[in-house]
Amino acid sequence: MYTKDGSNLVPVPSNAVIPERDINDMPALECKNLGITFGGLHAVENFNLTIGRTEIAGLIGPNGAGKTTVFNLLTNVYQPTTGTILLNGMDTHGMSTAQVSKAGIGRTFQNIRLFNNLTVEENIMVAMDKSMKYGLFDGLLRLPGFFREEKKAHQKALELLHIFEMENVASHRAGSLPYGAQRRVEIVRALATDPKVLLLDEPAAGMNPSETADLMANIRKIRDTFHIAVVLIEHDMNLVMNVCEGLCVLNFGRIIAKGSPAEIQKNPTVIEAYLGKSHSKGDSDKVSDMLIDAIVENRNGSDTESAAKLVQKSGKGGKRK
Ligand SMILES: Nc1ncnc2c1ncn2[C@@H]1O[C@H](COP(=O)(O)OP(=O)(O)OP(=O)(O)O)[C@@H](O)[C@H]1O
Ligand SMILES: [Mg+2]
Repeated sequence: MYTKDGSNLVPVPSNAVIPERDINDMPALECKNLGITFGGLHAVENFNLTIGRTEIAGLIGPNGAGKTTVFNLLTNVYQPTTGTILLNGMDTHGMSTAQVSKAGIGRTFQNIRLFNNLTVEENIMVAMDKSMKYGLFDGLLRLPGFFREEKKAHQKALELLHIFEMENVASHRAGSLPYGAQRRVEIVRALATDPKVLLLDEPAAGMNPSETADLMANIRKIRDTFHIAVVLIEHDMNLVMNVCEGLCVLNFGRIIAKGSPAEIQKNPTVIEAYLGKSHSKGDSDKVSDMLIDAIVENRNGSDTESAAKLVQKSGKGGKRK
């Protein structure tokens, strides 16, 4: 099984596939039978996923499929009703969100959560607080230890901003930046916690096509620079199909397919989940193009609307389940 960038996905004992280069390392993340119920709703059920040490993986699926809920489970915002999460082999059960962050999971949010009135640099330094080594008195009395750590943090913030060539906005108020730039600052802030796994929830939302293309290159650069795993939730299929090595597709809280982007694009169950309709095998190429269109369009409207448009386009009937 080959991914678009030529890396090879290989099976591991837990019945998962990861990039071949990661086969001798402990997986960055393993989810076993993960599930959560809200009232009667199984928002996520029987979720099993293994992410290789340096894998760029994608978590996709229609609106309301449970993708963000998986991120909330991984970061212990929610405690799972069932199952286990292993971060680099360590069970994160019972940890606080801060402990999970310290243990190595960094994330961005679907809705940007920056401190608008702080500068870009201050937003990043807030995330570094846990790694700054000065005592209470150093801080209160402004002793040399405090200034040493502040200087180190300042340098680190600028180095991280350099990934996106954003050093020039370090002193700008975060809330004054355009939307796409705020999303990039959120990624930098997540990197400031020195994660082993970086979770990005719709990082391209609100970005224009040229910003999205830059983001694609930068996600690879982040993985290659920090040797970490990246898990991406995204509706922009062009981004997902180009940057991800392994994909996992959720629908109604359940995994309906896993595999390389090429496999996922041709998977009839995936196509049906997005379009709500069965297609003949001969249609698969056309349909995979439509799948891409559907999900790209999905960013600007409900997926029912997108599916309806696509059904009109294909001249065939049918509606989403
Ligand atoms: N705290 C909660 N309480 C009750 N229901 C919830 C809660 N969080 C999520 N849900 C429900 O769980 C389901 C999955 O939601 P989730 O936000 O994970 O979807 P998603 O795949 O991220 O969708 P989108 O692509 O629109 O962001 C939805 O039906 C949602 O209403
Ligand atoms: Mg979501």
